[in-house]
Amino acid sequence: MAKFDFSKRDSFGSKIGIIAAAAGSAIGLGNIWRFPYVAGENGGGAFLLIYVGFIILIGIPVMLSEFTIGRRAQRNPFGAFKLLKPKQHWYLVGLMGIIAAFTILAFYSTVAGWTLEYLINAVSNNYDGKSPADLNNMFDAFVGTGTRPVIFQLVFMFLTAAIVFSGVKHGIERYAKILMPVLLLIIIVLCVRSVTLAGAAEGLNFLFNPDFSKIRASTVLEALGQAFFSLSIGMGTLITYGSYISKKENLSTTAVQVSAADTFIAILAGVAIFPAMFAFGIEPNTSGEGLVFKVLPLLFNEMAGGFYFQLLFCFLLIVAALTSTISVLEVVVASAAEQLNMSRKTATVIAAVAISILGIFCTLSLGNLYIGIPSPYPGVFKITLFNILEYLSANILLPLGGFFIVLFLGWFLGKQNVKNEITNSGKIRARLFNMFLFIIRYIAPIAIALVFLHGMGLINI
Ligand code: PHE
Repeated sequence: MAKFDFSKRDSFGSKIGIIAAAAGSAIGLGNIWRFPYVAGENGGGAFLLIYVGFIILIGIPVMLSEFTIGRRAQRNPFGAFKLLKPKQHWYLVGLMGIIAAFTILAFYSTVAGWTLEYLINAVSNNYDGKSPADLNNMFDAFVGTGTRPVIFQLVFMFLTAAIVFSGVKHGIERYAKILMPVLLLIIIVLCVRSVTLAGAAEGLNFLFNPDFSKIRASTVLEALGQAFFSLSIGMGTLITYGSYISKKENLSTTAVQVSAADTFIAILAGVAIFPAMFAFGIEPNTSGEGLVFKVLPLLFNEMAGGFYFQLLFCFLLIVAALTSTISVLEVVVASAAEQLNMSRKTATVIAAVAISILGIFCTLSLGNLYIGIPSPYPGVFKITLFNILEYLSANILLPLGGFFIVLFLGWFLGKQNVKNEITNSGKIRARLFNMFLFIIRYIAPIAIALVFLHGMGLINI
């Protein structure tokens, strides 16, 4: 079989392009949709504290590790491990990443579909004058029907595939560069409105005042999973993006900047949601995965010019979701194109169709076609395929992938190789290099292993 011509690989064009693309991958529904609802279900403040701790201690080192592997190998994750350690089985980590890409995109595209419905409702002014109960019913009715959510999901998958189809530089970079800062601005506007509502203080208290009695083993694993999910780490997305970064860029500062931006947006999303939730009398742990779609329209209703802000917000949410979904699909496409020597276009079509099939079942599992397992938890009615894929990817596959990635860098790639890549062969100083090495050799793998085993109920600390 003819080999893929690696000299023809695409790459990012500029410094700002890299940060925009990586931040575009990281910032998405994970911050705005997932963070508030998972934080709400896990007690708020204490969850946030553990989450931020994990970002600093584990997230940034894993992100830097991924960039390092990717840029050194100039390959997709699967090919990178094969190239860097040819006779060992590390490529299985790349394979696990591809599986994670399937599971993530399947449920992520469900939620991305909801953002399209949100946009349509916003344009049609359907939220005007609605009560919390009305919004609750609207959301549940929409998700319950099945067909509409599936159609929107497929539209979204199509958009994702269309961008990946046309390649990295022209597709991914261009969209992320301008729109991410606008998203930040509008979230800040939302925050201001939320914290000035009567009764907002309770929400801020919930988010920022840690109550450690609410911490369970599962909470800690949820925080770790959310950190991985939100930073787009543990499945090779940033190995893939790292492979498009030029040898001149500073990988460490990129990792820190992207992680900081991502965490900032998640916290802002929390500041927008929780005060509003309490002000409108919605319990933090009762809305499930529909939370932001049930709360945000209420907030916009309370705002001067809310109609226009909401339109802009929906549009930006869709863009934020898109810059994330393309980064997930890119992992599968880059791997298939380079390893199987397929054309980028064929690889995109095959991957998008395969993922969409799984995605349809995932969407329908929330509707009237129940696919899932009976819930072992009291008070929880059923666990759907959607819940299973979400849990499997965020709390199992990504932390496991991150575990192997730091082990690989810490113990197998060779200290000098790692140092050369991070310092651009000695051209930039790496002041914290020894600390980084210590973290990826000991702290991160041990912490991930303990949190994982404890959270799964396999050990008791
Ligand atoms: N980080 C993205 C978000 O927050 C989701 C994602 C996860 C993207 C894993 C790529 C890889 O929306």
